[in-house]
Amino acid sequence: MSTLAGRVAIVTGASRGVGRGIALRLAADGAAVAVNYRRDGAAAGEVVKEITAGGGVAVGYRAAIDDEAATTAMVHAVRRDLGPVSIVVSNAGTASRGLDVVGTSREEYLSLLSVHALGPIGLLREALPDLRAAGRGDVVMISSNTVASAPAQAAPYTMAKAAMEIVVRTLAREERQHGIRANIVAPGLVATDMGSRLVRASAGATLGDLAESSPFGRVCTPEDVAGAVAWLVSADAGYVTGQKILVDGGGRDAAIF
Ligand SMILES: NC(=O)c1ccc[n+]([C@@H]2O[C@H](COP(=O)([O-])OP(=O)(O)OC[C@H]3O[C@@H](n4cnc5c(N)ncnc54)[C@H](OP(=O)(O)O)[C@@H]3O)[C@@H](O)[C@H]2O)c1
Repeated sequence: MSTLAGRVAIVTGASRGVGRGIALRLAADGAAVAVNYRRDGAAAGEVVKEITAGGGVAVGYRAAIDDEAATTAMVHAVRRDLGPVSIVVSNAGTASRGLDVVGTSREEYLSLLSVHALGPIGLLREALPDLRAAGRGDVVMISSNTVASAPAQAAPYTMAKAAMEIVVRTLAREERQHGIRANIVAPGLVATDMGSRLVRASAGATLGDLAESSPFGRVCTPEDVAGAVAWLVSADAGYVTGQKILVDGGGRDAAIF
């Protein structure tokens, strides 16, 4: 069903993992999708190929989310290629290095804040006029259930996600008058490269090892997260803004991630 026909979505960090899942889903729902990536152009190209092979519309755009000049140029290019943007999914992200609060350098705190909170603000600085003019605009940011659990050795990541959540909740109030909905999707552990690295580092395990003890007998997938995003940007969620949806099977892995 082309419920998003006529809409243009930017999905950051869409070359793999959760972002890839979101890009595929929004394209399947009818949106034209800007597949953003930082380094891996080949992987982003595969996502574009998969979407276009299925009859959808997608173009890849290289831009590091923490480089405002690059994200501004990307929005210009998306406007030119696909049309005005009405959906921004801020998903690109990196984990922190696993040090304790005072053992973490100021540079690392700033770097994580830059990727998860300041970068998305920079992207929105350029894209927001499009979203306002669209009548219906959507911003969805991918946070993490760590904001609730604050696990040890993850302060830069969790702090940056908490900052991101405040940006979204503030935006929801500021932009409601312009028809923009701003919401948060917060997964627990997801089966991606990042998820796999975290499980290895914190528990010396693989994602497969955790399936049986996970909610519903499996680890969350990018498609699970994409489903929540697809609902939030759909007509069905037209009266929902400033909210956070946890996609963590009811919780369990907070101690790991
Ligand atoms: N996996 C989990 O267990 C989990 C749980 C909760 C929340 N999350 C959140 O979900 C989001 C996606 O995570 P994931 O597991 O899919 O990660 P992933 O498998 O490591 O993929 C990260 C994606 O983000 C891109 N990226 C990284 N830094 C970027 C930057 N500075 N600018 C633009 N793109 C950048 C990467 O592009 P390149 O490949 O080109 O570098 C890649 O497409 C993140 O925000 C993460 O914090 C993940």
